[in-house]
Amino acid sequence: MLQAQLTIDPAFRVAPVRRRTFGTFVEHLGRCVYTGIYEPGHPTADENGFRGDVLALTRELGVSTVRYPGGNFVSGYRWEDGIGPRANRPRRLDLAWHSTETNEVGVDEFMRWTRLAGVEPMMAVNLGTRGVQEALDLLEYCNIRSGTALSDLRIANGTKDPHDVRMWCLGNEMDGPWQIGHKTAREYGRIAAETARAMRMIDPNLELVACGSSGSSMPTFGSWEATVLEETYDVVDHISCHAYYEEKDGDLGGFLACSTDMEHFIASVAATADHVGARLRSRKRIGISFDEWNVWYLSRFQSAEPPTDWPVAPPLLEDHYHLADAVALGGLLITLLRNSDRVLAASLAQLVNVIAPIMTEPGGRVWKQTTFHPFAQASRYASGDVLRVEPVSPMYDTAEFGEVPVLHAVATHDEDDETTTLFAVNRSTEEPVTLEIDARALGRDVVITSADTLTDPDVYARNTADAPDRVAPRANPDHRSDPLRVVLPPVSWNVIRLTPPPRP
Ligand code: AHR
Repeated sequence: MLQAQLTIDPAFRVAPVRRRTFGTFVEHLGRCVYTGIYEPGHPTADENGFRGDVLALTRELGVSTVRYPGGNFVSGYRWEDGIGPRANRPRRLDLAWHSTETNEVGVDEFMRWTRLAGVEPMMAVNLGTRGVQEALDLLEYCNIRSGTALSDLRIANGTKDPHDVRMWCLGNEMDGPWQIGHKTAREYGRIAAETARAMRMIDPNLELVACGSSGSSMPTFGSWEATVLEETYDVVDHISCHAYYEEKDGDLGGFLACSTDMEHFIASVAATADHVGARLRSRKRIGISFDEWNVWYLSRFQSAEPPTDWPVAPPLLEDHYHLADAVALGGLLITLLRNSDRVLAASLAQLVNVIAPIMTEPGGRVWKQTTFHPFAQASRYASGDVLRVEPVSPMYDTAEFGEVPVLHAVATHDEDDETTTLFAVNRSTEEPVTLEIDARALGRDVVITSADTLTDPDVYARNTADAPDRVAPRANPDHRSDPLRVVLPPVSWNVIRLTPPPRP
């Protein structure tokens, strides 16, 4: 049995828990929109064609923001195709995913869905095949109350009040050679700055995200961020980060430690942004929008036969996640929370069917993937302030990251309801960890009120439509409060809630 210790102290405050950490992403890709959020004729569909079962699970997942409509899709997208009477909407080739886009769902439908789901929309504009004018047009259509051609068009299309979208992504992954309209950092930085400046002429208070690298292994990583920020520093609020992880070559231990890469990624982008800020003599601090992150078996996708036809909503990127994926994802969430001073927004990519926590059958059932659970629990229980915890933990060796701690953790503390929540991952593939918690700084003798654990004897166990709860959080009986101690099984995600005893 491994032993670890950590101290929870409200003095070690990092930042407030940011609701936007719990964002996700809906792209016109595969079955994310069609037979995902939207499927008229489905037994649970409402009068808009939105699946009620997916809406219910989106709410249960605790999603805050949803990025839309892409992703790679946005770089060839004409937003005007998706407005007005459906019968007049064109069918188009979607080059990014080799599909046919029917445009049955467009910006107005998506905004209606966000209101029903209770989430904040985060829009991306096309800086691949389009530019400043089309971004301004979309902004006018979405955010101007009335009295102009495009705002009146929105009203004529059935939406009286502006959509009032606050957060906008200036393109998507423009550093990637796969991106339609791929650009050099200087080219992209120029068009992003021009677009941002013009958008701010409509509304100076928008929150704008410049594209950072589509991964830390990109050959231009670092210099891309520096050049883009040289051009855009004064007119954007955030730089984006994207990262996907998968188990490679049977190295489960390395995979479970993938948040080590994310940690380094965040630190590198923050340092690069601060370096540019220093050179510009700017007091402004650029935030990080980690607006694509997840486990994705990208190598399987890349090695599949390229499609030859142009199907509508084909099943693409439908990864079926197992327990180890959920534990790795939990570790990534812990890292995002630990960096809440710098990561001001994040989007799990994506929401439904496409590398997603929610899966559907067309016309049929919906179920929660294993990865649903750490996200839903973190969104539900993280509140108040993020507290830094530095576990004293046994280490283990990985091929990719060298020595890493077995235990990865973060805490949040809510002064209002006096509740402290510890999120912890045991990365050991073999041994439980007995964790001792020093919480004396919390004042009155706190007790563990609940300990929930997501684990399974088979690290590759999955949920399916037939067995939707095979992998789900269960109460962990192996804890005591005097002293505070909990046993974390190997390959597990854990949520431990601490409160003071009731006042007499
Ligand atoms: O999320 C899937 C794809 O991954 C997105 O479309 C793209 O931005 C990224 O490469």
